[in-house]
Amino acid sequence: MIKSPRGTRDLLPPDTALWNFVETTARDVFRAYNFHEIRTPIFESTELFARGVGEETDIVVKEMFTWEDRGRAESDKGQSLTLRPENTAGVVRAYIEHKMWDRGLSKLFYIGPQFRRERPQKGRYRQFYQIGAEVIGPAASGSTSPARDAEILELLATLLDRVGITNWNLELNSVGCPADRARFNEALKQALAPVVDQMCDDCKRRAVTNPLRVFDCKVAADQPIIETLPTVNQFLDNECRDHYEAVKAILKAVRIPFVESPRLVRGLDYYTRTAFEFTHGSLGAQNAILGGGRYDGLSEALGGPAAPGIGFAIGEDRLVLSLSASAESVTRKPDAYIAPLGSGMNREAAIVARELRRHDLIIDLGDESFRLKKSFEAADKIGAKFMIIVGENEVAAAAFAVKHLASGTQETVAREGLAERLLRG
Ligand code: HAM
Repeated sequence: MIKSPRGTRDLLPPDTALWNFVETTARDVFRAYNFHEIRTPIFESTELFARGVGEETDIVVKEMFTWEDRGRAESDKGQSLTLRPENTAGVVRAYIEHKMWDRGLSKLFYIGPQFRRERPQKGRYRQFYQIGAEVIGPAASGSTSPARDAEILELLATLLDRVGITNWNLELNSVGCPADRARFNEALKQALAPVVDQMCDDCKRRAVTNPLRVFDCKVAADQPIIETLPTVNQFLDNECRDHYEAVKAILKAVRIPFVESPRLVRGLDYYTRTAFEFTHGSLGAQNAILGGGRYDGLSEALGGPAAPGIGFAIGEDRLVLSLSASAESVTRKPDAYIAPLGSGMNREAAIVARELRRHDLIIDLGDESFRLKKSFEAADKIGAKFMIIVGENEVAAAAFAVKHLASGTQETVAREGLAERLLRG
């Protein structure tokens, strides 16, 4: 038997109803905040992620699905391509490629699969789905304002609330600007020098190349050492500190609870200033339901103009895992099952079904070869509310037998009143 590849999953009904519920709710919320959808390719040049996400990040070092293109055209040959491990770099690439700065502030959202070669476990997959958003534009469009950071966080609280997730924790930090980070990295190097020999091989490498990434270490034995290291928020300059204070002040005003988490640096290199994660207790080890932050230098790192931005990505798989709603509770059952009775009745049943479906009714159809008993069983199995019998006599009389399946009561309903009867439930 051929199975789906390790770390991938098939999403089947009825569970897909939960995914649709989450995505529909997200689209509604994005609309209310005036965000518009962007769709970027599922694979991009490998270089985009190396430069965007960062050469020393776990994502780029260990987790990307990368291949060399075998295209015949000279321009394709040997090009290194990668399945997107995240979507921010792709969105900023598109922003630059299409000169989107002409539009002022771009408020974009996306929903789609991402790929990371991680060790699969509950809440961690090699193909997973993100619902994300990015706010990006020239500084003159207001993109650097702490109001944008706070609005993103408030949007997230609203979205989680709408899907019925209430007991989340917002962890907040500021990772400062490049100048702050240079001073922080120096301090980190000094603090690491006497202890790095006792740390894992990854940390030994990070200590030299990009000390901040030591905070990504998951090795239990290294954690007591990491606890003693200086934290980035001790190195913020006045502007970064004021920005951070302004974000927190708005959050307090709109009553979004948060906890400050000085060791939160996030696993991607592009972050500046605000960084955040929402966690949820029910998820176990993979408890980050979403993450995000500001990336004021990313556009320039990718060869574009200055275009500060902030965004987030929700792990949709994890969001669905933390829902208390059941798939059944968000699935609308069929309003009626139509049972064509006797030869030639498939045609008549198709006409009736077509009429009813115009009224936003969910209609399922049987087959004229079924005996009445089999039709009842089929209607029962799909949980239809009514069964409508379409036989020769009914068509001639323009009135149908409509059976309410739960109570067993049956009535005769004229053809023109059929939709209205079903809509009454
Ligand atoms: P990230 O923290 O790498 O950030 O991923 C965001 C979320 O995606 C995580 O919090 C988690 O819920 C989910 N996620 C990540 N890896 C997996 C996996 N292997 N299986 C299941 N879920 C996963 C980003 O991707 C940034 N692009 C977010 C961002 C947008 N920052 C600014 N704008």
